[in-house]
Amino acid sequence: MGLKCLVILFGLIKFCKANETMNTDTLSKVADSRATGGIYLTKWNRGLERGHQDTKKIEHRFWSPVQRESKFLSLFTVVTFPNGGCAGASGDNGTCMTARECSSRGGSANGYCANGFGLCCIFMTSCESSTSENGTYFVNSGYPAPYDGTGSCELTVIKSHPDVCQIRLDFDRFSIAGPEQMNHVCNQDQFIVSGGNPIPAICGTNQGSHMYVDAGIGTTNPVKLTFVTSGNPFERLWKVKVTQIPCNTIYKDEGCLQYYTGVSGQLQSFNYHPVSGLQLSNQDYGICIRIERNFCGIQYTACVDTVNNRSRAFTLTGNSNNPVNSMIGSGSGPNNCANDWLLIPCAANVGRLQPAQALCTDRICGGTFAADLSMQASSVLSTVKPFRLWFHTDSVEAPADMGNRGFCLNYMQQPCTNNVI
Ligand SMILES: *[C@@H]1O[C@H](CO)[C@@H](O)[C@H](O)[C@H]1NC(C)=O
Ligand SMILES: *[C@@H]1O[C@H](CO)[C@@H](O)[C@H](O)[C@H]1NC(C)=O
Ligand SMILES: *[C@@H]1O[C@H](CO)[C@@H](O)[C@H](O)[C@H]1NC(C)=O
Ligand SMILES: *[C@@H]1O[C@H](CO)[C@@H](O)[C@H](O)[C@H]1NC(C)=O
Repeated sequence: MGLKCLVILFGLIKFCKANETMNTDTLSKVADSRATGGIYLTKWNRGLERGHQDTKKIEHRFWSPVQRESKFLSLFTVVTFPNGGCAGASGDNGTCMTARECSSRGGSANGYCANGFGLCCIFMTSCESSTSENGTYFVNSGYPAPYDGTGSCELTVIKSHPDVCQIRLDFDRFSIAGPEQMNHVCNQDQFIVSGGNPIPAICGTNQGSHMYVDAGIGTTNPVKLTFVTSGNPFERLWKVKVTQIPCNTIYKDEGCLQYYTGVSGQLQSFNYHPVSGLQLSNQDYGICIRIERNFCGIQYTACVDTVNNRSRAFTLTGNSNNPVNSMIGSGSGPNNCANDWLLIPCAANVGRLQPAQALCTDRICGGTFAADLSMQASSVLSTVKPFRLWFHTDSVEAPADMGNRGFCLNYMQQPCTNNVI
Protein backbone atom coordinates (compact mmCIF):
# COMPACT_ATOMS: atom_id res chain seq x y z
CA MET A 1 0.00 0.00 0.00
CA GLY A 2 1.14 3.52 -0.66
CA LEU A 3 0.25 6.97 -1.72
CA LYS A 4 -0.12 7.70 -5.42
CA CYS A 5 -0.32 11.29 -6.58
CA LEU A 6 -1.25 12.73 -9.88
CA VAL A 7 0.52 16.01 -10.41
CA ILE A 8 -0.99 18.34 -12.97
CA LEU A 9 0.51 21.45 -14.49
CA PHE A 10 4.01 20.88 -13.18
CA GLY A 11 2.94 20.58 -9.58
CA LEU A 12 0.33 23.28 -9.39
CA ILE A 13 -2.42 20.77 -8.70
CA LYS A 14 -1.97 17.57 -6.78
CA PHE A 15 -4.36 14.73 -6.41
CA CYS A 16 -3.38 11.87 -4.13
CA LYS A 17 -5.01 8.55 -3.40
CA ALA A 18 -4.03 5.37 -1.67
CA ASN A 19 -1.79 3.67 -4.23
CA GLU A 20 -3.77 0.46 -4.43
CA THR A 21 -7.04 2.16 -5.29
CA MET A 22 -5.74 4.62 -7.87
CA ASN A 23 -6.82 3.58 -11.33
CA THR A 24 -7.42 5.05 -14.71
CA ASP A 25 -10.96 5.86 -13.68
CA THR A 26 -9.71 8.30 -11.07
CA LEU A 27 -7.34 9.77 -13.53
CA SER A 28 -10.06 10.46 -16.03
CA LYS A 29 -12.20 12.04 -13.31
CA VAL A 30 -9.40 14.39 -12.43
CA ALA A 31 -8.70 15.11 -16.04
CA ASP A 32 -12.40 15.78 -16.64
CA SER A 33 -12.71 18.05 -13.64
CA ARG A 34 -9.71 20.00 -14.75
CA ALA A 35 -11.18 20.30 -18.22
CA THR A 36 -14.51 21.41 -16.76
CA GLY A 37 -13.21 24.06 -14.42
CA GLY A 38 -11.30 22.06 -11.78
CA ILE A 39 -13.45 21.26 -8.76
CA TYR A 40 -10.38 19.76 -7.13
CA LEU A 41 -8.57 23.04 -7.08
CA THR A 42 -9.93 24.18 -3.72
CA LYS A 43 -9.61 20.76 -2.18
CA TRP A 44 -5.93 20.63 -3.00
CA ASN A 45 -5.19 24.31 -2.87
CA ARG A 46 -2.45 23.69 -0.36
CA GLY A 47 -0.56 22.08 -3.17
CA LEU A 48 -0.43 25.45 -4.83
CA GLU A 49 1.68 26.85 -2.00
CA ARG A 50 4.34 24.23 -2.03
CA GLY A 51 3.98 22.61 -5.41
CA HIS A 52 6.82 24.27 -7.21
CA GLN A 53 9.75 23.52 -4.97
CA ASP A 54 8.50 20.06 -3.96
CA THR A 55 8.08 18.59 -7.41
CA LYS A 56 11.67 19.34 -8.33
CA LYS A 57 12.79 16.79 -5.77
CA ILE A 58 10.47 14.07 -7.01
CA GLU A 59 11.14 11.50 -9.64
CA HIS A 60 8.76 12.21 -12.47
CA ARG A 61 7.31 9.77 -14.88
CA PHE A 62 4.52 10.05 -17.37
CA TRP A 63 1.30 8.18 -16.93
CA SER A 64 1.26 6.29 -20.15
CA PRO A 65 -1.70 3.85 -19.77
CA VAL A 66 -4.28 6.65 -20.05
CA GLN A 67 -4.70 6.61 -23.79
CA ARG A 68 -8.01 8.53 -23.86
CA GLU A 69 -6.53 11.59 -22.22
CA SER A 70 -3.63 11.76 -24.59
CA LYS A 71 -4.05 15.48 -25.09
CA PHE A 72 -3.29 16.06 -21.37
CA LEU A 73 -0.38 13.65 -21.20
CA SER A 74 2.38 16.19 -21.08
CA LEU A 75 0.67 17.89 -18.15
CA PHE A 76 0.41 14.84 -15.92
CA THR A 77 3.00 13.30 -13.71
CA VAL A 78 2.34 10.44 -11.34
CA VAL A 79 4.41 9.99 -8.21
CA THR A 80 4.05 7.22 -5.66
CA PHE A 81 5.15 7.06 -2.04
CA PRO A 82 5.02 4.12 0.36
CA ASN A 83 2.71 4.48 3.40
CA GLY A 84 5.83 5.08 5.44
CA GLY A 85 6.29 6.44 8.92
CA CYS A 86 6.38 10.21 9.31
CA ALA A 87 6.99 12.74 12.05
CA GLY A 88 3.90 14.76 12.84
CA ALA A 89 3.98 18.45 13.68
CA SER A 90 3.24 17.62 17.34
CA GLY A 91 6.34 15.39 17.63
CA ASP A 92 4.33 12.18 17.55
CA ASN A 93 5.04 9.71 14.77
CA GLY A 94 2.40 8.62 12.30
CA THR A 95 1.82 7.10 8.91
CA CYS A 96 1.87 9.10 5.68
CA MET A 97 -1.43 8.93 3.77
CA THR A 98 -4.12 11.01 2.13
CA ALA A 99 -6.53 13.14 4.18
CA ARG A 100 -9.45 10.93 3.22
CA GLU A 101 -7.67 7.69 4.14
CA CYS A 102 -6.59 9.19 7.47
CA SER A 103 -10.09 10.20 8.51
CA SER A 104 -11.70 6.99 7.26
CA ARG A 105 -9.21 4.99 9.36
CA GLY A 106 -9.92 7.08 12.45
CA GLY A 107 -6.66 8.98 12.64
CA SER A 108 -6.01 12.67 12.89
CA ALA A 109 -3.88 14.57 10.40
CA ASN A 110 -0.91 16.28 11.96
CA GLY A 111 1.37 17.99 9.44
CA TYR A 112 2.55 17.05 5.99
CA CYS A 113 4.75 14.30 4.63
CA ALA A 114 5.92 12.86 1.31
CA ASN A 115 7.15 16.27 0.15
CA GLY A 116 3.79 17.80 0.96
CA PHE A 117 1.78 15.23 -0.99
CA GLY A 118 0.49 13.36 2.02
CA LEU A 119 -0.62 14.06 5.57
CA CYS A 120 1.03 12.61 8.62
CA CYS A 121 -1.78 10.63 10.18
CA ILE A 122 -1.53 10.03 13.94
CA PHE A 123 -3.49 7.30 15.68
CA MET A 124 -4.17 7.95 19.35
CA THR A 125 -6.66 6.00 21.37
CA SER A 126 -7.69 5.35 24.95
CA CYS A 127 -9.78 2.96 27.04
CA GLU A 128 -12.01 0.19 25.65
CA SER A 129 -10.87 0.54 22.08
CA SER A 130 -9.15 -1.61 19.52
CA THR A 131 -6.58 -0.83 16.86
CA SER A 132 -4.89 -2.45 13.93
CA GLU A 133 -2.99 0.69 12.99
CA ASN A 134 0.77 0.51 13.16
CA GLY A 135 2.20 3.10 15.55
CA THR A 136 -0.97 3.71 17.57
CA TYR A 137 -0.51 5.63 20.83
CA PHE A 138 -2.44 4.20 23.76
CA VAL A 139 -3.02 7.02 26.28
CA ASN A 140 -4.78 7.42 29.62
CA SER A 141 -8.26 8.84 29.67
CA GLY A 142 -8.01 12.64 29.59
CA TYR A 143 -4.46 12.63 28.22
CA PRO A 144 -2.37 14.83 28.26
CA ALA A 145 -3.94 15.57 31.67
CA PRO A 146 -3.30 12.86 34.27
CA TYR A 147 -5.99 10.41 35.26
CA ASP A 148 -6.76 9.99 38.94
CA GLY A 149 -9.42 7.35 39.04
CA THR A 150 -9.90 3.64 39.46
CA GLY A 151 -10.93 1.00 36.99
CA SER A 152 -9.58 -0.86 34.04
CA CYS A 153 -8.53 0.61 30.71
CA GLU A 154 -7.96 -1.81 27.86
CA LEU A 155 -6.67 -1.59 24.31
CA THR A 156 -7.11 -4.55 21.97
CA VAL A 157 -4.32 -4.76 19.42
CA ILE A 158 -5.24 -6.59 16.23
CA LYS A 159 -2.54 -7.49 13.74
CA SER A 160 -2.56 -5.12 10.78
CA HIS A 161 -1.46 -8.08 8.66
CA PRO A 162 -1.02 -11.84 9.33
CA ASP A 163 2.66 -11.25 8.62
CA VAL A 164 3.10 -9.37 11.87
CA CYS A 165 4.79 -11.51 14.53
CA GLN A 166 5.62 -9.07 17.31
CA ILE A 167 4.28 -5.97 18.95
CA ARG A 168 6.73 -3.47 20.37
CA LEU A 169 5.52 -1.28 23.22
CA ASP A 170 7.39 1.95 23.89
CA PHE A 171 6.55 3.64 27.16
CA ASP A 172 6.80 7.31 26.12
CA ARG A 173 4.98 8.14 29.36
CA PHE A 174 4.41 5.61 32.09
CA SER A 175 3.62 6.67 35.59
CA ILE A 176 1.18 4.63 37.63
CA ALA A 177 1.18 3.79 41.34
CA GLY A 178 4.22 1.76 42.44
CA PRO A 179 4.32 -1.52 44.36
CA GLU A 180 3.55 -1.84 48.08
CA GLN A 181 6.54 -1.22 50.37
CA MET A 182 6.74 -4.60 52.10
CA ASN A 183 7.02 -7.22 49.36
CA HIS A 184 7.12 -4.93 46.32
CA VAL A 185 4.05 -6.51 44.75
CA CYS A 186 2.05 -4.42 42.25
CA ASN A 187 -1.20 -4.60 44.17
CA GLN A 188 -2.58 -1.14 43.51
CA ASP A 189 -1.95 -0.33 39.85
CA GLN A 190 -0.84 -2.78 37.19
CA PHE A 191 -0.01 -2.85 33.51
CA ILE A 192 -0.96 -6.25 32.10
CA VAL A 193 -0.27 -7.70 28.66
CA SER A 194 -2.27 -10.75 27.66
CA GLY A 195 -2.82 -12.75 24.52
CA GLY A 196 0.86 -13.12 23.63
CA ASN A 197 3.75 -14.82 25.43
CA PRO A 198 3.59 -14.59 29.25
CA ILE A 199 4.67 -11.15 30.41
CA PRO A 200 5.00 -10.14 34.07
CA ALA A 201 2.69 -7.37 35.25
CA ILE A 202 4.53 -4.16 36.03
CA CYS A 203 3.76 -0.92 37.84
CA GLY A 204 5.40 2.31 38.98
CA THR A 205 7.48 4.55 36.73
CA ASN A 206 8.72 3.09 33.46
CA GLN A 207 9.09 6.00 31.12
CA GLY A 208 11.60 5.30 28.33
CA SER A 209 11.37 1.55 28.76
CA HIS A 210 10.01 -0.92 26.21
CA MET A 211 8.66 -4.46 25.77
CA TYR A 212 8.30 -6.88 22.89
CA VAL A 213 5.22 -9.09 22.79
CA ASP A 214 5.37 -12.24 20.66
CA ALA A 215 2.07 -12.31 18.82
CA GLY A 216 2.55 -15.64 17.03
CA ILE A 217 2.59 -16.48 13.33
CA GLY A 218 -0.43 -15.88 11.09
CA THR A 219 -3.85 -14.76 12.24
CA THR A 220 -3.86 -15.08 16.03
CA ASN A 221 -5.86 -13.82 18.98
CA PRO A 222 -5.45 -10.13 19.62
CA VAL A 223 -3.00 -8.88 22.22
CA LYS A 224 -4.61 -6.93 25.04
CA LEU A 225 -2.97 -4.12 26.95
CA THR A 226 -4.66 -3.28 30.23
CA PHE A 227 -3.99 -0.63 32.84
CA VAL A 228 -5.69 -1.51 36.10
CA THR A 229 -5.86 1.38 38.56
CA SER A 230 -7.08 1.05 42.13
CA GLY A 231 -6.40 2.20 45.65
CA ASN A 232 -5.13 5.56 46.80
CA PRO A 233 -5.43 8.72 44.72
CA PHE A 234 -2.59 8.93 42.20
CA GLU A 235 -2.05 11.04 39.12
CA ARG A 236 -1.57 8.40 36.44
CA LEU A 237 -0.17 9.26 33.06
CA TRP A 238 0.60 6.92 30.21
CA LYS A 239 1.32 7.02 26.52
CA VAL A 240 2.34 3.69 25.05
CA LYS A 241 3.38 3.50 21.41
CA VAL A 242 2.27 0.24 19.83
CA THR A 243 4.36 -0.78 16.81
CA GLN A 244 3.59 -3.85 14.74
CA ILE A 245 6.75 -5.71 13.75
CA PRO A 246 6.71 -7.74 10.52
CA CYS A 247 7.81 -11.38 10.80
CA ASN A 248 10.63 -10.86 8.32
CA THR A 249 12.35 -8.23 10.49
CA ILE A 250 15.89 -9.26 11.33
CA TYR A 251 14.98 -9.29 15.01
CA LYS A 252 13.66 -12.79 15.47
CA ASP A 253 14.56 -13.77 19.00
CA GLU A 254 11.36 -14.97 20.56
CA GLY A 255 11.21 -14.76 24.30
CA CYS A 256 13.15 -11.56 24.78
CA LEU A 257 10.92 -9.15 26.62
CA GLN A 258 13.44 -6.40 25.94
CA TYR A 259 15.74 -6.08 22.99
CA TYR A 260 18.61 -3.64 22.59
CA THR A 261 20.80 -2.80 19.65
CA GLY A 262 24.02 -0.81 19.52
CA VAL A 263 27.53 -1.23 20.85
CA SER A 264 26.63 0.41 24.15
CA GLY A 265 23.50 1.21 26.09
CA GLN A 266 21.74 1.09 29.42
CA LEU A 267 19.52 -1.60 30.90
CA GLN A 268 17.16 -0.98 33.80
CA SER A 269 14.75 -3.20 35.61
CA PHE A 270 11.16 -2.00 35.64
CA ASN A 271 10.41 0.75 38.15
CA TYR A 272 14.14 1.36 38.70
CA HIS A 273 14.92 4.70 40.25
CA PRO A 274 17.85 5.37 42.63
CA VAL A 275 15.72 7.40 45.07
CA SER A 276 12.16 6.19 44.94
CA GLY A 277 12.22 3.04 42.79
CA LEU A 278 11.51 -0.39 44.22
CA GLN A 279 12.46 -3.63 42.50
CA LEU A 280 9.26 -5.36 41.39
CA SER A 281 8.41 -8.81 42.67
CA ASN A 282 7.14 -11.64 40.44
CA GLN A 283 9.36 -10.82 37.48
CA ASP A 284 10.75 -13.43 35.11
CA TYR A 285 12.01 -12.34 31.72
CA GLY A 286 14.89 -12.21 29.29
CA ILE A 287 16.78 -9.20 27.92
CA CYS A 288 18.59 -9.58 24.61
CA ILE A 289 21.28 -7.45 23.08
CA ARG A 290 22.05 -7.77 19.40
CA ILE A 291 25.65 -8.82 18.74
CA GLU A 292 27.03 -6.04 16.60
CA ARG A 293 29.42 -6.93 13.79
CA ASN A 294 32.97 -7.68 14.93
CA PHE A 295 32.05 -7.78 18.60
CA CYS A 296 32.54 -10.93 20.63
CA GLY A 297 31.85 -10.10 24.27
CA ILE A 298 29.78 -7.82 26.44
CA GLN A 299 30.75 -5.98 29.58
CA TYR A 300 28.29 -4.75 32.19
CA THR A 301 28.93 -2.05 34.78
CA ALA A 302 26.54 -0.73 37.42
CA CYS A 303 25.30 2.77 36.54
CA VAL A 304 26.80 5.71 38.38
CA ASP A 305 24.54 6.60 41.28
CA THR A 306 24.82 10.32 41.94
CA VAL A 307 22.00 10.65 44.44
CA ASN A 308 22.88 8.16 47.17
CA ASN A 309 26.02 8.20 49.28
CA ARG A 310 26.54 4.54 48.30
CA SER A 311 25.54 3.09 44.94
CA ARG A 312 22.10 1.54 44.90
CA ALA A 313 22.26 0.89 41.14
CA PHE A 314 22.40 -2.84 41.78
CA THR A 315 20.39 -3.85 44.84
CA LEU A 316 18.54 -7.13 44.47
CA THR A 317 18.75 -8.89 47.84
CA GLY A 318 19.49 -8.13 51.47
CA ASN A 319 18.68 -5.01 53.43
CA SER A 320 20.16 -2.47 51.07
CA ASN A 321 19.50 0.38 53.49
CA ASN A 322 22.91 -0.83 54.69
CA PRO A 323 25.88 -1.85 52.52
CA VAL A 324 25.35 -5.38 51.16
CA ASN A 325 27.98 -7.49 49.39
CA SER A 326 27.50 -9.18 46.05
CA MET A 327 26.16 -12.73 46.10
CA ILE A 328 26.47 -15.39 43.44
CA GLY A 329 25.33 -18.85 42.41
CA SER A 330 22.17 -20.85 42.76
CA GLY A 331 22.76 -22.60 46.09
CA SER A 332 20.67 -21.91 49.15
CA GLY A 333 23.37 -20.49 51.40
CA PRO A 334 23.31 -16.93 52.75
CA ASN A 335 25.46 -15.63 49.91
CA ASN A 336 23.65 -17.46 47.13
CA CYS A 337 20.89 -16.25 44.85
CA ALA A 338 17.99 -18.61 45.52
CA ASN A 339 15.15 -16.09 45.23
CA ASP A 340 15.94 -12.96 43.24
CA TRP A 341 18.70 -12.85 40.67
CA LEU A 342 20.09 -11.49 37.45
CA LEU A 343 21.50 -14.29 35.31
CA ILE A 344 24.47 -13.37 33.12
CA PRO A 345 25.92 -16.50 31.48
CA CYS A 346 29.47 -17.22 32.61
CA ALA A 347 30.10 -13.76 34.02
CA ALA A 348 33.66 -12.93 35.06
CA ASN A 349 35.03 -9.83 36.78
CA VAL A 350 37.09 -7.56 34.57
CA GLY A 351 40.59 -6.96 35.89
CA ARG A 352 40.02 -8.76 39.17
CA LEU A 353 40.88 -12.43 39.61
CA GLN A 354 38.06 -14.71 40.60
CA PRO A 355 38.48 -17.34 43.30
CA ALA A 356 39.76 -20.54 41.68
CA GLN A 357 36.54 -22.42 42.34
CA ALA A 358 34.43 -19.92 40.46
CA LEU A 359 36.12 -18.90 37.23
CA CYS A 360 32.82 -17.65 36.01
CA THR A 361 29.38 -17.38 37.52
CA ASP A 362 25.78 -17.18 36.32
CA ARG A 363 23.38 -15.84 38.92
CA ILE A 364 24.28 -12.55 40.55
CA CYS A 365 22.34 -10.85 43.34
CA GLY A 366 23.00 -9.01 46.62
CA GLY A 367 23.66 -5.29 46.93
CA THR A 368 26.94 -4.89 45.01
CA PHE A 369 27.49 -5.76 41.36
CA ALA A 370 30.35 -8.22 40.84
CA ALA A 371 30.85 -11.82 39.71
CA ASP A 372 32.41 -12.86 43.03
CA LEU A 373 31.54 -12.39 46.70
CA SER A 374 32.68 -8.87 47.42
CA MET A 375 31.86 -5.44 48.82
CA GLN A 376 33.72 -3.97 45.84
CA ALA A 377 31.76 -3.52 42.62
CA SER A 378 33.37 -4.71 39.41
CA SER A 379 32.66 -4.62 35.70
CA VAL A 380 31.59 -8.04 34.52
CA LEU A 381 32.36 -9.66 31.16
CA SER A 382 30.41 -12.39 29.39
CA THR A 383 31.36 -13.90 26.04
CA VAL A 384 28.45 -16.33 25.80
CA LYS A 385 26.50 -15.74 22.60
CA PRO A 386 23.82 -14.62 21.90
CA PHE A 387 24.12 -11.81 24.46
CA ARG A 388 21.32 -12.31 26.97
CA LEU A 389 20.41 -11.76 30.59
CA TRP A 390 17.52 -13.11 32.59
CA PHE A 391 15.91 -11.39 35.55
CA HIS A 392 13.95 -13.28 38.15
CA THR A 393 12.29 -12.18 41.38
CA ASP A 394 9.99 -14.14 43.66
CA SER A 395 6.96 -12.75 45.46
CA VAL A 396 8.61 -12.05 48.81
CA GLU A 397 10.96 -9.32 50.05
CA ALA A 398 10.42 -8.73 53.79
CA PRO A 399 11.87 -9.35 56.27
CA ALA A 400 15.27 -10.29 54.79
CA ASP A 401 15.14 -8.02 51.76
CA MET A 402 14.53 -4.31 52.25
CA GLY A 403 14.85 -1.17 50.15
CA ASN A 404 16.08 -2.92 47.01
CA ARG A 405 15.93 -0.84 43.86
CA GLY A 406 16.59 -3.46 41.17
CA PHE A 407 19.31 -2.81 38.63
CA CYS A 408 20.67 -0.21 36.28
CA LEU A 409 23.59 -1.46 34.19
CA ASN A 410 25.54 0.12 31.37
CA TYR A 411 26.64 -2.35 28.73
CA MET A 412 29.52 -2.09 26.29
CA GLN A 413 30.21 -4.70 23.64
CA GLN A 414 33.82 -5.84 23.41
CA PRO A 415 35.62 -6.27 20.08
CA CYS A 416 36.94 -9.69 19.10
CA THR A 417 40.58 -10.06 20.16
CA ASN A 418 42.85 -12.88 21.24
CA ASN A 419 41.27 -12.70 24.71
CA VAL A 420 37.65 -12.10 23.73
CA ILE A 421 36.47 -14.61 21.13
C1 LIG B 1 1.86 1.03 -6.06
O1 LIG B 1 1.09 -0.05 -6.61
C2 LIG B 1 1.78 -0.82 -7.60
C3 LIG B 1 0.83 -1.88 -8.13
O2 LIG B 1 -0.47 -1.54 -7.86
C4 LIG B 1 3.01 -1.47 -6.94
O3 LIG B 1 3.74 -2.20 -7.90
C5 LIG B 1 3.91 -0.38 -6.36
O4 LIG B 1 4.99 -0.98 -5.67
C6 LIG B 1 3.12 0.48 -5.40
N1 LIG B 1 3.98 1.55 -4.94
C7 LIG B 1 4.12 1.87 -3.66
C8 LIG B 1 5.05 2.98 -3.39
O5 LIG B 1 3.52 1.30 -2.76
C1 LIG C 1 5.30 -0.34 11.55
O1 LIG C 1 6.09 0.82 11.62
C2 LIG C 1 7.45 0.58 11.84
C3 LIG C 1 8.19 1.88 12.04
O2 LIG C 1 7.50 2.96 11.64
C4 LIG C 1 8.01 -0.23 10.68
O3 LIG C 1 9.37 -0.52 10.92
C5 LIG C 1 7.21 -1.51 10.55
O4 LIG C 1 7.66 -2.22 9.42
C6 LIG C 1 5.74 -1.21 10.40
N1 LIG C 1 4.98 -2.45 10.44
C7 LIG C 1 4.21 -2.86 9.45
C8 LIG C 1 3.46 -4.11 9.66
O5 LIG C 1 4.12 -2.26 8.39
C1 LIG D 1 9.38 9.33 16.59
O1 LIG D 1 10.38 8.58 15.92
C2 LIG D 1 11.70 8.99 16.22
C3 LIG D 1 12.66 8.21 15.34
O2 LIG D 1 12.32 6.86 15.29
C4 LIG D 1 11.97 8.76 17.70
O3 LIG D 1 13.28 9.20 18.03
C5 LIG D 1 10.95 9.55 18.51
O4 LIG D 1 11.12 9.28 19.88
C6 LIG D 1 9.52 9.18 18.09
N1 LIG D 1 8.59 10.03 18.81
C7 LIG D 1 7.54 9.55 19.46
C8 LIG D 1 6.72 10.55 20.20
O5 LIG D 1 7.23 8.36 19.47
C1 LIG E 1 24.08 7.81 53.82
O1 LIG E 1 22.78 8.37 53.75
C2 LIG E 1 21.88 7.83 54.70
C3 LIG E 1 20.53 8.48 54.47
O2 LIG E 1 20.30 8.67 53.11
C4 LIG E 1 22.37 8.12 56.12
O3 LIG E 1 21.48 7.52 57.04
C5 LIG E 1 23.77 7.52 56.30
O4 LIG E 1 24.26 7.87 57.54
C6 LIG E 1 24.69 8.06 55.19
N1 LIG E 1 25.97 7.39 55.32
C7 LIG E 1 27.12 8.02 55.21
C8 LIG E 1 28.35 7.18 55.36
O5 LIG E 1 27.19 9.21 55.01
